[in-house]
Amino acid sequence: MTDANDRDPYALFADWLEEAGRSEPNDPNAMALATADAAGVPSVRMVLLKGVDARGFVFYTNTESRKGEQLLANRHAALCFHWKTLRRSVRVEGRIEQVTDAEADAYFESRPRESRIGAWASQQSRPLEGRWELEKRVAQYAAKFAIGTVPRPPHWTGFRVLPARIEFWQDRPFRLHERVVYRPADPASQGDSASWTTERLYP
Ligand SMILES: Cc1cc2nc3c(=O)[nH]c(=O)nc-3n(C[C@H](O)[C@H](O)[C@H](O)COP(=O)(O)O)c2cc1C
Repeated sequence: MTDANDRDPYALFADWLEEAGRSEPNDPNAMALATADAAGVPSVRMVLLKGVDARGFVFYTNTESRKGEQLLANRHAALCFHWKTLRRSVRVEGRIEQVTDAEADAYFESRPRESRIGAWASQQSRPLEGRWELEKRVAQYAAKFAIGTVPRPPHWTGFRVLPARIEFWQDRPFRLHERVVYRPADPASQGDSASWTTERLYP
């Protein structure tokens, strides 16, 4: 990370994610997603990064889930990747926006048919009587969409975190870890900053 000052944070992130793809046993794109409700009370869970480009970091979920309701009430989020074998972490914080319908449709269509049926069947985060209830709903939607394509449910979409801050953390001996924080040079930018300031932090 010694060259961090010269790098675009998305290029550095892409390198780290690519390395994690080679070293992690599974889900190198798994990240903790922190949200908060309207009162500011936080909660966190794992999701998968499904897109990253110069605009920000994208994941997909159910808008009627706990996180979905929180994201719609308080449009800020934080992400944390931890690649244990590489002893690296990346943290991202910023406002969120919903991806376009076209973007969500394109990703939804790329998923296996069973996952698309599952997105209809799962009332994510709401109480479930028993496994049978979920299996019944899966069977109902499989029958409903037996012919033709499975459309994207209206309550299923993606969110993009527009980074106001991206921190790279690299383990170093004796806990003298390296930390570099990137911020958009123009604080009003919406994640798509052309230039970034960097700052090193004590571990
Ligand atoms: C490795 C991993 C990846 C996950 N990826 C997603 C995901 O991309 N989207 C999602 O909605 N839930 C994902 N989940 C499930 C969430 O962690 C969580 O259980 C679910 O989204 C409900 O969270 P909520 O009640 O806070 O809304 C994943 C779980 C794990 C362990």
